[in-house]
Amino acid sequence: MKNKIGILTSGGDCQGMNACLYYLALICEQSGIELIGINQGYQGLIDKKYQGLKSEELEKVKDTGGTILKSSRCQAMFTSEGQSLVAQNIKDLGLTSLVVLGGDGSAQGAQILQAQFGINTVVIPATIDNDMKDVSLSLGHLSAVDRANTMIGWIEDTARSHDRIFIVEVMGRHSGNIAKALGEKNNFLAVVLPETKVEPELIDQIKSNFTKNQSHVVVITELQPEKIAQLKNGLKDYDLRVNVLGHGQRGGPPTQEESQLAKEYAQKAVTMCQKHQHGVVSK
Ligand code: ADP
Ligand code: F6P
Ligand code: MG
Repeated sequence: MKNKIGILTSGGDCQGMNACLYYLALICEQSGIELIGINQGYQGLIDKKYQGLKSEELEKVKDTGGTILKSSRCQAMFTSEGQSLVAQNIKDLGLTSLVVLGGDGSAQGAQILQAQFGINTVVIPATIDNDMKDVSLSLGHLSAVDRANTMIGWIEDTARSHDRIFIVEVMGRHSGNIAKALGEKNNFLAVVLPETKVEPELIDQIKSNFTKNQSHVVVITELQPEKIAQLKNGLKDYDLRVNVLGHGQRGGPPTQEESQLAKEYAQKAVTMCQKHQHGVVSK
């Protein structure tokens, strides 16, 4: 049977998605495989929103952030009716495989389509959080760390000039991987991960970093307001600011390393589809 692959981008967008779409289109064209783009994640399979994908067009956007297919958090996929409709529409399209670019949630959706409806699904790990089971590196993570690292450097500049300490909140949902990577890049950076306790030793380290002019920043993974309150309390004698880095971490061009990873994952995904294998692409 001739291969016909559907591709969607789901969950939080991330750098490297457009690059990956470009390489998928290129490889499919070279291999005589038909590729259908599905808009807005799983939602496009509810609303039947599809588009053609041509490498010539995608080449123009491969170094941009975001996803030209658009993404969504599709509520219908959490219901059995929604899942059945998605599966039916995939069958109506005549897809031999569905490739999903997304994170852990998107991968769970793909697993349901595979296990309950017999649809061959291949997941390309794509989330800045880098929190997927058995995945060493997801698309977006390196670029997000790069963005956050640049901004932390800039925050250091202003913090030093005003003798301030900044608590900088980074993304990651329940995973501290972005904050952890920032700590590995910066020797004296204090880092508060989901598993970190705000003990007096940590407060002392932050004060010492400040006094010795080694670092004026504390990085904390999001969704930990009680720890921000503890830090504020421990550092109440200092001029303190809290800065949320936010969605800028997900934007901008993929780093060069990221583009290479996008190419590698695209190649591996197409090979899996050709062999009718399912699962998550890995390094
Ligand atoms: P990510 O894929 O980046 O982790 P989400 O967790 O928001 O992002 O998941 C993206 C989408 O994947 C959800 O909006 C939903 O459509 C689908 N999804 C997530 N979890 C499940 C699940 N347990 N069952 C079915 N579909 C899911
Ligand atoms: O999963 C990627 C991510 O950016 C998380 O780091 C963050 O918690 C979440 O998505 C933000 O979600 P939203 O884009 O819906 O605000
Ligand atoms: Mg996730």
